Amino acid sequence: MAEFTLPRNSTITKGKHFPAKGGKDVRTFKIYRWNPDDAANPRVDTYEVDLASCGPMVLDALIKIKNEIDPTLAFRRSCREGICGSCAMNIDGTNTLACTKAIDDCGKKEVPVYPLPHMPVIKDLVPDLTHFYAQYASIKPWLRTQSTAPTRERLQTPADRKKLDGLYECILCACCSTSCPSYWWNGERYLGPAVLLQAYRWIVDSRDEDTGARLDDLEDPFKLYRCHTIMNCTRTCPKGLNPAKAIAEIKQLMLQRRAA
Ligand code: SF4
Ligand code: SF4
Ligand code: FES
Repeated sequence: MAEFTLPRNSTITKGKHFPAKGGKDVRTFKIYRWNPDDAANPRVDTYEVDLASCGPMVLDALIKIKNEIDPTLAFRRSCREGICGSCAMNIDGTNTLACTKAIDDCGKKEVPVYPLPHMPVIKDLVPDLTHFYAQYASIKPWLRTQSTAPTRERLQTPADRKKLDGLYECILCACCSTSCPSYWWNGERYLGPAVLLQAYRWIVDSRDEDTGARLDDLEDPFKLYRCHTIMNCTRTCPKGLNPAKAIAEIKQLMLQRRAA
């Protein structure tokens, strides 16, 4: 697999040009292409799309390109409404979801579309998220209890439930982690903002009984403390969440328990 580094990688060559066949409202998409069968030659292909016959989102343009212009283009998508996280990619210089990014909101006349930065690429716009998901599994993202199971659901007060707002909405799209310079350079050991936000989601869950063990697991020079509050993660999150704040809250809890 190719390690995708920076969007404007100088080794990327100019690729094929697919001009529009007429149309008054034509937009140009410059799309990163990489195929494992031709691994030494990543390129950027140019597609001109007539927006008069295209939906409003970047994902609509990608689907139109694949269906009508170039069936070899590879990308992931499923829900088309910002819920599954599978269409995360770098569009117009920002990590975001193709299905919720409006073409009209892309500032440039030519819209650059690249895979999520600093991830291995499987093909074209499809990153390999194996390591990201393994890191997610490592925080044991489920309710952990030791007490006898109740005969009905475990209740929360409205105030305790509210603590999960801004956390449970995370769709694990990886936009934040792949925008984080600390994750780029230390991703093997630093958990990154997405996984740390998820870790915090369980740490603050009033029903979970493993808070101490969860904090013990994060008490590590790399897993947590590589965050230097650069805030790229929060700026890029397409769901409007604040992983940097979640990380800061975990660090605060670490300090509080050391002082106790
Ligand atoms: S915090 Fe936001 S950017 Fe990060 S994985 Fe969750 S939804 Fe995606
Ligand atoms: S705040 Fe932390 S996690 Fe977010 S981008 Fe900066 S270093 Fe990465
Ligand atoms: S297709 Fe599901 S989030 Fe975009």
